[in-house]
Amino acid sequence: MSPGRTQVAIVGAGPAGLLLSHLLHLARIESVVLESRSRDEVQRTVRAGVLEQGTVDMLRDTGVGARLDREALFHRGVYLRFGGRTHHIDMEGLTGGKRVTLYAQQEVVKDLIAARLEAGGEIRFGVSDVVIHDVLSDRPGVSFRQGADAQRIECDFVAGCDGSHGMSRHSLPEGALARHERMYPFGWFGILVEAPPSSDELIYARHDRGFALVSTRSRMLQRMYFQCDPAQKTEAWSDDRIWAELRSRLETPDGWTPVEGPITQKVVVGMRSLVFEPMQHGNLFLAGDAAHVVPPTGAKGLNLAAADVRVLSRALQRFYQSRSRDALEGYSATCLTRVWNAQRFSYWMTMLLHRADSDTSFDRNRQLAELEYLVHSRAAMTSLAENYVGLPFED
Ligand code: FAD
Ligand code: DHB
Repeated sequence: MSPGRTQVAIVGAGPAGLLLSHLLHLARIESVVLESRSRDEVQRTVRAGVLEQGTVDMLRDTGVGARLDREALFHRGVYLRFGGRTHHIDMEGLTGGKRVTLYAQQEVVKDLIAARLEAGGEIRFGVSDVVIHDVLSDRPGVSFRQGADAQRIECDFVAGCDGSHGMSRHSLPEGALARHERMYPFGWFGILVEAPPSSDELIYARHDRGFALVSTRSRMLQRMYFQCDPAQKTEAWSDDRIWAELRSRLETPDGWTPVEGPITQKVVVGMRSLVFEPMQHGNLFLAGDAAHVVPPTGAKGLNLAAADVRVLSRALQRFYQSRSRDALEGYSATCLTRVWNAQRFSYWMTMLLHRADSDTSFDRNRQLAELEYLVHSRAAMTSLAENYVGLPFED
């Protein structure tokens, strides 16, 4: 088995791994991406939809924003609905022009894969048994199988971009990472619907029956979610039952109802907040969901992954230009400032809009008071808006 060689071995071809490989290529740094799933599976995974302005600008500035500009939907803000009333949060006005962009994660992934392959980049799909070696030495390596072949790639650095169920953080010695976690007693039931939009902008709804969210993907494909028990099985929910639940949680006195259509996908996702600290060990750097997970309410996960790899690509560029490790040594601390703010924001949005079985009348009234304050205070709306569309990157 003769080892291959690259500068940065990247485990995982999700948004974090692919964007990192793309940014490194623009900085003339070589990488190889190792992905356990097939290209087709990776490109068909339905997850995020909301991109921060900074993520969109990064995709545009690095030459992968053309299809996004043609196909994405750009919204001024979002609606908050509670107590049967709907309030508009004008994020564009409150943040000096930053917009909410709706462009599906799998479309970002497709654009990045196409750009990497067109530039001659190496993405190995369908690998197995990935093991990371010698990260405390200056000659780390990654071994893996592709089909019947056992292979090894030697490198200067390894980027663990393999998501929340990946293996890279488990290759660190016991005790090297602190784990900060919070579980929530609720999940999201997500559906894709073949129908035109129910609303011109997203609706985040708080109801005594639980949270609901009306989102979109395109002019003929809609995304909706509602809070459910995280142990819920999708089979327990017929289409009729789903529409009845969405109608009651989204009801308004004037009889508004969501536009219905054939449901083409049903999924239940759990919710948790999780941070591993530090996000690096020797020459291994964790990025994206491999290092931290947020509950989806604030739409921050993919955006944080993009922010991490922006920091990492710049630090690696600095290393190859000047052999200085300073920026690399500061990687974790730099990322964690943004990560903890996104954790705070995602937790706050989650607690603002969901209901728990343990909620008392005090909790219910406090939640409604917080929503009332939010929609009547320009300061509070600005705080929501600037976090939702994305705080500036620290440079
Ligand atoms: P992943 O996308 O998980 O990619 C990791 C990759 O690594 C995968 O392709 C996986 O197959 C591969 N892999 C795993 N193990 C191995 C291994 N051992 N060897 C090789 N490869 C491996 N975020 C937002 O910003 N905005 C939103 O609107 C939003 N909405 C969401 C809605 C839902 C319902 C969910 C579930 C998430 C949402 N998110 C959102 C979060 C977002 O989807 C994730 O944060 C994002 O996918 C993280 O990207 P990643 O590249 O770090 O990890
Ligand atoms: C979507 C996902 C989110 O987590 C969110 O807060 C808003 C929209 C979506 O998938 O469209």
